[in-house]
Amino acid sequence: MIYLDHAATSWPKPPAVIQAMQVAMEESAANPGRGSHAMAVKASRVLFESRMQLAKLFCVKNPNDIAFTNNTTVALNMAIKGILQEGDHVVATMVEHNSVRRPLEYLKRTLGITVDYVKVNGKGELNLNDVEIALKQPTRLVVCTHSSNLLGSILPVEEIGALARKHGVLFLVDAAQSAGILDIDVERMHIDMMAFPGHKGLLGPQGTGGLYIAPQVDLEPLIHGGTGSQSEEKEQPSVRPDRYEAGTPNTVGIAGLKVGVQKVIELTPKRIYSHEWNLTQQLMDGLVDIPGITLLGPDKGAPRTGIVSFVVEKYDSSEIAFRLDREYGIAVRAGFHCTPLAHYAVQTDKSGAVRASVGVDTTDVEMDTLIKAMKQLCK
Ligand code: ALA
Repeated sequence: MIYLDHAATSWPKPPAVIQAMQVAMEESAANPGRGSHAMAVKASRVLFESRMQLAKLFCVKNPNDIAFTNNTTVALNMAIKGILQEGDHVVATMVEHNSVRRPLEYLKRTLGITVDYVKVNGKGELNLNDVEIALKQPTRLVVCTHSSNLLGSILPVEEIGALARKHGVLFLVDAAQSAGILDIDVERMHIDMMAFPGHKGLLGPQGTGGLYIAPQVDLEPLIHGGTGSQSEEKEQPSVRPDRYEAGTPNTVGIAGLKVGVQKVIELTPKRIYSHEWNLTQQLMDGLVDIPGITLLGPDKGAPRTGIVSFVVEKYDSSEIAFRLDREYGIAVRAGFHCTPLAHYAVQTDKSGAVRASVGVDTTDVEMDTLIKAMKQLCK
């Protein structure tokens, strides 16, 4: 099988990740932060060490400013619903995933917030001036994805962060497609909150992710409940990360995530990005001349994460994905990719698109196999 669906979740996981999860399940799967017996302490250590690795990767000074969540969607809901109040104005972009757009649309209905979705061009690229224009009215939050999950386009997060800071507006980044692949420094980029998945570029298991919350951000928790700390108090503790981590965590998954992040730090996001970018260029080179195929996203040679989406004239994208899977053993994602405004921006809101996405272990031979398969399918 050739797995080209890394933007949905990376696979296979490094053997060391699987092994760490097995060891955690056997030796430290007690409930961290609850009880002081030896295995509970060991479980707490797993969380501590994993948080340390994440802090190192994202240049976070205090690891306790990172809260573990089940995935990016939960982290984004925590950030958006914990910060916005009645009547607030938000600036987002047209390439947001539904995990940003749906909470915003929900708050439009329930809290009367207003949202500007800043336009992108036909390649999914954003013009900074349009953000500046949207920020002319009093705004509470700027939220943007670091990289489009449909197009692979990369948004100028550092510049948007500087603009948000200049206007005194909070800045939330959705790092679903960039964590582990693009360099992230939360301070340099003026990031106040950042949601990230553990199971994509960080090479950990599904059921892991997190939210970075800068120390100055006073975020209301989304979930209230037991934390193992200040148990006699009726209110959620103010101490981090407990404030944002009510309930038993995914200790075993977080043990795997730690090792995934260690691998990313060893390889470095720079090298991972470069490997994935080279593969996307090879794939685009091979697909561009096939009659009937239209490539989406940034031009060849431009920055993009490891995503190449395309439409095939006269074919439904689902049919292409089905045939790639059944006839060639190639796994891609097709149809609509939970990002309707991005589809609209690149005029695939009726057709959907085929998306091939690469990972750390994807090879150039696999790219050639996909190109050959597409040549045959388009004959
Ligand atoms: N958000 C993930 C994707 O783009 C699941 O496929």
